[in-house]
Amino acid sequence: MWLRTKCAAALVLLFFGLSCSQKANSVLTESPFTLIRDDSFNYQLLVQFGTVRYHGASVADLFSAVQAIKPKSMSSYNSSFYQLAQQSEKRAEATNDTSVAQDSYFSASNYYRQADFYLHDNWSDPLIDWYWEKQATLFDKAIASLPVPGERVTIPADGFETIGIFYKPDNHSIKRPTVLIGSGYDEAQEHSLHSNGLAFLEKGWNVLTYEGPGQPTVRRQQNLGFIYDWEKVVTPTVDYLANRSDVDMSQLVLQGNSMGGYLAARAAAFEPRVKALILNEGVYSVYEGFTHGFPSSLLELLAAGNTTAFDKALEEGVLFNDSASTTNRWAITQGLWSFNTHSPSEWIEKSKNMTLANITQLIRVPVWVSNPVNDTTFPGQAVKAAQALGSKATIHNFTGAASLHCSAGAYEEANWAILSWLDGVFSSNHSSTSG
Ligand SMILES: *[C@@H]1O[C@H](CO)[C@@H](O)[C@H](O)[C@H]1NC(C)=O
Ligand SMILES: *[C@@H]1O[C@H](CO)[C@@H](O)[C@H](O)[C@H]1NC(C)=O
Ligand SMILES: *[C@@H]1O[C@H](CO)[C@@H](O)[C@H](O)[C@H]1NC(C)=O
Ligand SMILES: *[C@@H]1O[C@H](CO)[C@@H](O)[C@H](O)[C@H]1NC(C)=O
Ligand SMILES: *[C@@H]1O[C@H](CO)[C@@H](O)[C@H](O)[C@H]1NC(C)=O
Ligand SMILES: *[C@@H]1O[C@H](CO)[C@@H](O)[C@H](O)[C@H]1NC(C)=O
Ligand SMILES: *[C@@H]1O[C@H](CO)[C@@H](O)[C@H](O)[C@H]1NC(C)=O
Ligand SMILES: *[C@@H]1O[C@H](CO)[C@@H](O)[C@H](O)[C@H]1NC(C)=O
Ligand SMILES: *[C@@H]1O[C@H](CO)[C@@H](O)[C@H](O)[C@H]1NC(C)=O
Ligand SMILES: *[C@@H]1O[C@H](CO)[C@@H](O)[C@H](O)[C@H]1NC(C)=O
Ligand SMILES: *[C@@H]1O[C@H](CO)[C@@H](O)[C@H](O)[C@H]1NC(C)=O
Repeated sequence: MWLRTKCAAALVLLFFGLSCSQKANSVLTESPFTLIRDDSFNYQLLVQFGTVRYHGASVADLFSAVQAIKPKSMSSYNSSFYQLAQQSEKRAEATNDTSVAQDSYFSASNYYRQADFYLHDNWSDPLIDWYWEKQATLFDKAIASLPVPGERVTIPADGFETIGIFYKPDNHSIKRPTVLIGSGYDEAQEHSLHSNGLAFLEKGWNVLTYEGPGQPTVRRQQNLGFIYDWEKVVTPTVDYLANRSDVDMSQLVLQGNSMGGYLAARAAAFEPRVKALILNEGVYSVYEGFTHGFPSSLLELLAAGNTTAFDKALEEGVLFNDSASTTNRWAITQGLWSFNTHSPSEWIEKSKNMTLANITQLIRVPVWVSNPVNDTTFPGQAVKAAQALGSKATIHNFTGAASLHCSAGAYEEANWAILSWLDGVFSSNHSSTSG
């Protein structure tokens, strides 16, 4: 997720000398969703509140984080969640109640992921890997106690490995509809269980979450940044599913969250075994999303190929500037880390191929396109994606509480919409093997 708060256009503001937080304060005082006066932390905390319904966090823990975290202090975000993670982990280890243990392992895992979230400016920080090993170990303890334990899978791909986790609702030997869920710029596949996976499991679907290059586990363990040709990630994963005896390939759905809205659409263009596509959200051009807030002076430097001056402007203006907004600092830091480059211009350059231009005609299945109307991360992109897809697309406008990027804070509302759309798609195209 990129520049995902009210201050998505903040680079403009910054270069006109008005800071993001000044702008934010006036906007946020009017918003019913202000928890903390830092747009980036506020958004990220809303994301966590959205997971409560799906066992990712507890309300009491999150309110204590809200009180402890200080605007602009990434280290307060880290240490607050680190403390919560340790508390949850201790609770999980101490209890004899399996459901308390499961919830506590899930939340401990989530809080370690949060502790990591703002740390990627220093790639040598050992906590980047240490937190990740903790979140994975504790998550594995939680999914081991699901009715059917979640199963980690490693799938050989083109020069790398796609890493997945397969979940199913019960042990009956029937083929079931199956959703393949991928995230975007920053979220882990473990998060996808809480944002969407459990909602699908409740409805009797199989779920395979997965990560490719640029995404948390693959970035760390295989040292790979994002690639635009995402079919390289998804097609081997579909091969894996096709090989399983419990997957109904006539009801195979691919879902992409956030920047994953681009990634999933790209993969589906080259993967005909996907039968329906969920773009949560629609992203036509990642490059446009990344650059929409840039002032024209910066865009001119890019257009002129003056990468030295462009990099210097982002470094001095944002990356090494303690007064810059958390939103902008995080967005660039996370971009460099996840695209595996130290050069801002290379990061932007690599996003140029991430577009649906020239490929929408290759997508031949129904597509659901989320358009949260107050999204500031990829503004206008969902409408553009839906228009390019034409009659294949069904756009869903989220308003009110679900209107922020990826319906943060309101995951159940997104899941209701997704699952009822899928009911319609597959009841008109019925398969006798569905469970
Ligand atoms: C993150 O928090 C941990 C635990 O409080 C602390 O040891 C570490 O120094 C912090 N790192 C940063 C970069 O804030
Ligand atoms: C858990 O069970 C053990 C063994 O029965 C017991 O000693 C311990 O007090 C129990 N712990 C809690 C928190 O109830
Ligand atoms: C990055 O982290 C490493 C390892 O903790 C440390 O030695 C180094 O000083 C840090 N660099 C910066 C710029 O903070
Ligand atoms: C399903 O099978 C797995 C593996 O054999 C087992 O651990 C689990 O308890 C079973 N679950 C149910 C609900 O039968
Ligand atoms: C499919 O299953 C066979 C037999 O278990 C195995 O040899 C093969 O590697 C599998 N292929 C994929 C793509 O998983
Ligand atoms: C790049 O931009 C900087 C700042 O505007 C300018 O000083 C420099 O001459 C430019 N370099 C080239 C090669 O155009
Ligand atoms: C640092 O950021 C602040 C707030 O956005 C801005 O006013 C200032 O001009 C920036 N500093 C530099 C050197 O660009
Ligand atoms: C963009 O895609 C073209 C093929 O369409 C490829 O040749 C080029 O290397 C790609 N550029 C980047 C930066 O990935
Ligand atoms: C799309 O097609 C046009 C015309 O063939 C070409 O100029 C452009 O580079 C293509 N864009 C991408 C991202 O492949
Ligand atoms: C969403 O946008 C509408 C107007 O476009 C505004 O009235 C509303 O307050 C916004 N909601 C949030 C949560 O920002
Ligand atoms: C959804 O919102 C877009 C603008 O974001 C608008 O053009 C479109 O008409 C809306 N569609 C529906 C079905 O309300």
